[in-house]
Parts: sequence; C-alpha cells; structure tokens
Amino acid sequence: MTRKLLVAGNWKLNGSIAMTNDLISAIANGLSNSKNFDVAVFPPFVYLSQASKLVGDKILFGAQTVSEYEKGAYTGEISAVMLKEMGCQMVLVGHSERREYFKESNQDIANKFKAAQAQGLKPILCCGETLEQRNSGVTEQVVAEQINVVIDLVGIDAFKNAVIAYEPIWAIGTGVTASSEQAQEVHAFIRSLLSLKSDTIAPLVPILYGGSVKGSNAQELFSMQDIDGGLIGGASLTAHDFLAICQQADKLS
Ligand code: 13P
Repeated sequence: MTRKLLVAGNWKLNGSIAMTNDLISAIANGLSNSKNFDVAVFPPFVYLSQASKLVGDKILFGAQTVSEYEKGAYTGEISAVMLKEMGCQMVLVGHSERREYFKESNQDIANKFKAAQAQGLKPILCCGETLEQRNSGVTEQVVAEQINVVIDLVGIDAFKNAVIAYEPIWAIGTGVTASSEQAQEVHAFIRSLLSLKSDTIAPLVPILYGGSVKGSNAQELFSMQDIDGGLIGGASLTAHDFLAICQQADKLS
C-alpha cells in the first residue's frame, strides 16, 4: 500500500501579511512541479484569504481549527462553510494546544471533525499523549480514546477522507523528537485500531507524525512503514527549514 506523503505546516499563532506573502511564495518557488508528495500550510484564519491567492496548485491550505457550529450566535467562531468559501481543502482538529489551553474535549473535537467533513473539508485529527501519560504506560489508551470518540460519531467510513496526526505532547516545540521507532510503534497501533473497524480503510489513512520534525530527522521518520509525513510547527515558519523537510519527503516519494 503506498500512501502519498504529506508535509503540513502548522503556523500556530504566528504570521503577518508580509510573512504570509514571503513564506508561501518561497515554498511554492522551492517545490518542484512534478513532486509526488503533498504539501499544506495552516496559517491563522485572518491570512487564509491571502494564502488562497498565493498557494497555486502545488500547495494545499487550511485552518488550524473550525467551529462545530454552522452559523448563528457563536461570537468569535469560524464555520466550515466559511473555510470552504475561502478555498480551504483541509482543517486541523484536536491539536493538543486546543485540547489543553482551550479545553476542547474529545467530543468537541469529534463534532468539529464532523462539521468539517459535512462541508467537504478534509480533517487532520490530532492525537497524542503527555509525558506523564507515556511514563505511566497509558499512551495507547489515551490515543485510542481520542480516536474512538470520533469513530463513534462519524463512523469508520469517514476516515476515507481524513488524516490522523500523532503528536506526542512531550515532543512538541521541545526539540525532543520521538525516535522513529517510538513514533512507528504508536502509528502502527493507530492503524491497528482503525483495522478493528475496517481492514480496507485502515491502510488508506495517512498518519502524520508531529513533534520537533526538522530537515535532519524527517527522512528517518518518514521512511517508517506507518509514518506518512509530518505536521510541522516551528520548522514551518521559515521557507528554508520547511523546504528542507520537503526535500526529504521528495527523496522518499
Ligand atoms: P513543533 O514542530 O514546533 O514541535 O510543533 C509540532 C506541532 O505541534 C505541529 O502541529
């Protein structure tokens, strides 16, 4: 089974009009027209319109979260319909920073996943454990719960049009990357979890790794059997670092 690699840049709360312009233009210029892997950027909401004019046909783009609601009196929210109108193809849901700082529950995230798909956006469902959870041996339990709540709401078929990102919280922004074996172990577990519901869908779902991915470790991570690319934070903020990761994906695709 060959799944296409995806290198996705999550800008988090970073960016400006100038940065959006310079970064996306430089990424687009640095990617070959004939590349055989996908590249996506996730700027803050307010730069999505600008991003849509810069991405061309080599870069996908999306938002970092989405409202579970379609419209109405929900001050500050952005709906999937709005993202679709902006031209987004994808959206992150359940990033650990949303879970931790904005108290999003597994159920909230499942609702967002459903709302995104209802408008034809491809959700990237993020999951991952804290260091405490890893040290107490409950990584698989935590990740299974995060994914199963979504499967229970939308069904396994919905994963035909979704991506999962495994991002161990202890590896995010810390410079500590999970070893390729540690990451592969959890990725394989996630795929086995999907297989329990459908043997045919499980091999199709791209599973990205996130957490201190850089040009220097991307190739080793992406060459693991169940690692299908990366969700990149810090190294997605400069074209030099992001393209260094893309080059590694290019070698493997
Ligand atoms: P870093 O690459 O900065 O560790 O962030 C990973 C991440 O959270 C991407 O969503």
